[in-house]
Parts: sequence; structure tokens; C-alpha cells
Amino acid sequence: MYFEFTEEQMMIRQAAREFAQTELKPGVIERDEHQKFPGEQIKKLGELGFLGMMVSPEYGGSGMDAISYVLVMEELSKIDASASVVVSVNNSLVCFGLEKYGTEAQKQKYLLPLAKGEKIGAFCLSEPEAGSDATSQKTTAVDMGDHYLLNGVKNWITNGNSASTYIVMAQTDASKRHNGINALIVEKGMPGFTIGAKENKMGIRGSDTHSLMFTDVKVPKENRLGDEGFGFKFAMTTLEGGRIGIASQALGIASGAYELAVQYSKERKAFGKTIADLQATQFKLADMATEIEAARLLCLKAAWLKDKGLPYSQASSMAKLYASDVAMRVTVEAVQIHGGYGFVKDFHVERLMRDAKITQIYEGTSEIQRIVISREVLK
Ligand code: CAA
Repeated sequence: MYFEFTEEQMMIRQAAREFAQTELKPGVIERDEHQKFPGEQIKKLGELGFLGMMVSPEYGGSGMDAISYVLVMEELSKIDASASVVVSVNNSLVCFGLEKYGTEAQKQKYLLPLAKGEKIGAFCLSEPEAGSDATSQKTTAVDMGDHYLLNGVKNWITNGNSASTYIVMAQTDASKRHNGINALIVEKGMPGFTIGAKENKMGIRGSDTHSLMFTDVKVPKENRLGDEGFGFKFAMTTLEGGRIGIASQALGIASGAYELAVQYSKERKAFGKTIADLQATQFKLADMATEIEAARLLCLKAAWLKDKGLPYSQASSMAKLYASDVAMRVTVEAVQIHGGYGFVKDFHVERLMRDAKITQIYEGTSEIQRIVISREVLK
């Protein structure tokens, strides 16, 4: 077992770290306050090749490995989880599925601009009455011969308004349950496709979360991903990688808050010494550091399995389950270490605490991760 990064992986991490400091940090508080999508920053991340990191250069990507993806997600998420979720969704839930299951024509038309960062993608599975229970899709895609007629509503869609390309899961034959679901590529602007208001969220407020409405949208047959009825398995395999991204986001939120807490504890004086000299603070920092390191190892293990072409479903769910809980615990403690300053916006930790919560919810709640893990354990 090697616990060393390659030169290339370290350079990629450094590039992400610098980008986060110079491009994401200025304005992050204001974007959170005003729910402003980090459009300019995402454009620059695209130019750096971070929106199609793991896509092969043949299709406009950077050809990097999943380990590098974990490193980049951690660094960006230390500063701005609203930006890093765009990186995660575009890479894992959109580009990955298009590259793995798309036809050559779909890759040329849709994957290339997404991997180059010229366009943004969205993954549309959740519905008002189908979140965790993803097989119960109410959105329908009726087979009309040369096209599907798409009707229904999708909820909580990340990049809902900023995306141009949407992968939409819809039920074609309800009698077949999950085997009747199709994954369709839908373009913004297709007649009958409308976008609802932006959600006013507790955390990741800069990210662009919307409901989507489809009314008799004609989606050409050639926009179906994979065989007829493959949509549910498409979504599940795609989410396996997505969970590495969100686990790494949670890791980044935790390590961002921890770094702020370490720095603050060395500066803040109380009882004639810095609070870092107090054992109460030292023990908190020790627990935070240990949990973060364990979360990091789980993320890297899942990524390593993916890079090796080995099964990683259980590992990615373990990473997400654990890292998202660590993100909650660590950010709460980071606020505590900051005292009253932790409760105001200028000090960043309160935002990280709010941002942490979503990592226990999206791309499968912690309860869903336990289902995935326990099924593997009991196999
Ligand atoms: N890979 C391949 N196939 C898989 C699979 C996987 N990881 N997981 C399940 N399947 C297959 C099963 O083998 C089964 O196939 P067969 O019928 O051929 O045997 C089929 O899919 C149905 O599987 P289950 O019986 O396990 O289905 P289920 O109804 O019990 O649900 C579940 C399983 C794990 C709970 C699933 O519904 C799930 O993951 N739910 C959570 C959905 C989710 O994560 N939503 C997040 C939305 S996306 C998001 O948040 C993105 C964003 O914007 C940030």
C-alpha cells in the first residue's frame, strides 16, 4: 500500500488550492448572502479543465484520475461548496454517464462542450414524491415512435437554471417498475420545458437549485442513454461516483472549518494565554483532525477503487456517510471554538456549518448510504 500522491496529483491539488484562495474566497460571503451563482468562477474552473476532469481528452476532458478529483473537491470545498457542487455534478453525474453509456453522436454533441466547461449539466432524478425512493418516478416518457413525450416535475435540481444539458430520468413503462425507466438528454429551450424559481436554501446558497417542469416535451429517441429501460441502473451507477464527489465536498467543508479553527485558536487570547494552550481546545482539535483524516482515507480509498476499475459502490457510500457526519461535527466544533465570532458571517465557519448539512442529504441521505452499505455487507 502506498500513501503517496504522484507529482501530478500534488500539482493538481496545488492549482485547486490557489484557485480557491484567489478566485473563490473573495466574494464567497456575498454570494452566499445574496444567493448568487458563482458563474464567472465556474467559467474559469472550466478553462482549468476541472469541469470534465476525468473525461478522456478525446472528448474534451482532462483525463485525470478519481484521486485527483478528491483532491480538487476537497480544496474547492474548503472555501466554497456552492462552487464545488457544480464541479461534482458536472463531472460525476453528467460527464461520467455520458462518456460511459453515451453513443458516439451523444458524446460529440453533448459531452464535448460539458467536459470543456463551455456548458453545464444537471442530473434530474428527484421528484416531489420520489426522493430516496427513486424507483417511484412519476415523470413519464411516453414512447411515440421516433421520440418520447416527457411530462412531469423534477425537484431540487442542482444547476437547475445554469445548466444547458439535463439528464432526466422518466418512467416509460410503469408495469416494469425500475426496468421501465429511461434516462433522456433534454436541452434547455426544448418547447414545454420550464424552470421554476430558485430555492432559498439554508446552505450552499450560491448554488442554483430549481424545480423543473416538463409539459409534452418532445425528446428524440436518439437522446436516450443506454438501452430501453436502463435509466434506473444508469442513475444508480452514476450516483456511485457522485457520492465520491459529495464525500470529498464534505471532507473539504470539514477541513476548511478545522483550518480556520486552528488558526483562530492560536490568535485568540483568554485567561492570559491563547485558547490553543487550553486543553479543552486541544482535545477538540485532536478529535477534529483524527476524524478528518479518517474521512479523507475513505474518500481516497473509494477513488482508488474506481481508478483501478474495481467495484466501489460500498466504498463510496461509506465515504459519503462518514465524511458528511464528520463535516457536521467538525463545523459545529469550529463554530464553538470561535465563540461569538463563529456566529457571525465574516468568520466563514457559520457558512461552512450551514453548508455541511446538505452533504448528509443530497445524492442519497445518510439512511440511503446505510441501505447500500448494509446490502453489500449482507450479500
Ligand atoms: N449499480 C447498478 N445497478 C444497481 C445499483 C448500482 N449501484 N443499485 C441498484 N441497482 C439495480 C439492482 O441490482 C436492481 O436491478 P435488478 O432488478 O436487475 O436486480 C435495480 O437496480 C433495483 O434496485 P433495488 O431493488 O436495490 O432498488 P430499490 O428501490 O430498493 O432502491 C436505493 C435502491 C439504493 C434505495 C435507490 O433507490 C437509491 O439510491 N435512492 C437514493 C436516490 C438518490 O441518491 N437520489 C439523489 C438525487 S441526485 C442528487 O442529489 C444530485 C444533486 O443534485 C446534487
